[in-house]
Amino acid sequence: MAFQQTILITGGAGFIGSHLVRLMVNQYPAYHIVNLDKLTYAGNLENLKDVEGSPNYTFIKGDITKEAQMQQLFADYDFDGVIHLAAESHVDRSISNPMSFIETNIVGTVVLLNAARFRWKDAAGKRFYHISTDEVYGSLGETGYFTEETPYDPRSPYSASKASSDHLVRAYYHTYGLPVVLSNCSNNYGPYQFPEKLLPLMINNIRNNKPLPVYGDGQYTRDWLWVEDHASAIDLIYHRGEVGETYNIGGNNEWKNIGLVHQLCDIVDELLGRQPGASRSLITFVKDRPGHDRRYAIDASKIKRELGWEPTIQAAEGLRRTAEWYLENTEWLERVTSGAYQQYYELQYGEE
Ligand code: NAD
Ligand code: TYD
Repeated sequence: MAFQQTILITGGAGFIGSHLVRLMVNQYPAYHIVNLDKLTYAGNLENLKDVEGSPNYTFIKGDITKEAQMQQLFADYDFDGVIHLAAESHVDRSISNPMSFIETNIVGTVVLLNAARFRWKDAAGKRFYHISTDEVYGSLGETGYFTEETPYDPRSPYSASKASSDHLVRAYYHTYGLPVVLSNCSNNYGPYQFPEKLLPLMINNIRNNKPLPVYGDGQYTRDWLWVEDHASAIDLIYHRGEVGETYNIGGNNEWKNIGLVHQLCDIVDELLGRQPGASRSLITFVKDRPGHDRRYAIDASKIKRELGWEPTIQAAEGLRRTAEWYLENTEWLERVTSGAYQQYYELQYGEE
């Protein structure tokens, strides 16, 4: 079958990537979706079982830092577009092992930019879409929001590596005319998120009656976005975003960590038929994350004004759906938390 276009999605076996791949494969049967993923600890093909047999879907195991491999991939498929999500994504891991973040997030992004630049002699109609984070903007006080004009001020190895890759993507636009577009999004939540991140880690611990490790005073603020709302924003920006532009994506849904954990405890207690308040007693304040950013909050008015995008799932519903999914998919949780996860957990939380 001749496809209308062939799109490379990198990191499609990860948390956000798997939701995006599912959306694109199902919504655009005339597109060929090629998912390139290294399958690190965070990538899991089980996340994509429902699309693996689709005629417009191809999975390739590969590493974005390998130059020859990526150039061959671009020659084999002649991509019309790239949506680049592959990354090392967890702040705590970036503190204990920054180098893998430099390699994948910075070097890997440049390898892909080069592969696109060399392949796309005529870049008309092509698109290189880089997925990034609001963490590049640094930390806010009690008030204010990140806009697309906020100066970059990354403070963790993770956010510094993403900031660096954002700058390189923009440099390829200005220097070589590569048709790029970028978005910077707030914290995502929902099914298939690896349980090193706050919400799935807490749900898993509540389920196992283990301590709930809240960093520092718990008064850190994040803006939470339902992952499928992020995927729909990416779809929109890929198709209608303007070349050279950046779009901030946020949930308009700010929570202090301790408030979010309280809310989650109450939902899970209800779902598990426990006494009200039972899980809150598991909350344990632990040593703070070094360089912990106090508050993130996104002004998403540009994407609303220009592309008509808004989040659709509110917190109460999203948290409940998330908790239900993890409690119904305990086998997935068991599998991804065995082996290497145990070692990570021991290192990160063991000495408390
Ligand atoms: P994730 O860690 O769940 O998934 C990352 C995926 O990339 C995994 O499937 C992994 O196997 C793959 N990968 C890692 N190194 C690779 C390499 N060298 N070559 C090929 N594949 C590789 O991450 P996520 O939460 O789904 O985030 C996806 C993207 O969105 C990242 O770029 C992240 O910076 C960005 N982002 C995430 C959030 C969030 O809240 N999770 C918010 C804003 C932006
Ligand atoms: P996380 O899910 O790691 O996302 P990010 O650091 O990218 O925002 O953490 C979200 C917030 O929750 C952050 O302020 C750190 C905090 N946190 C805890 O308090 N305890 C934990 O065990 C984890 C993983 C995070």
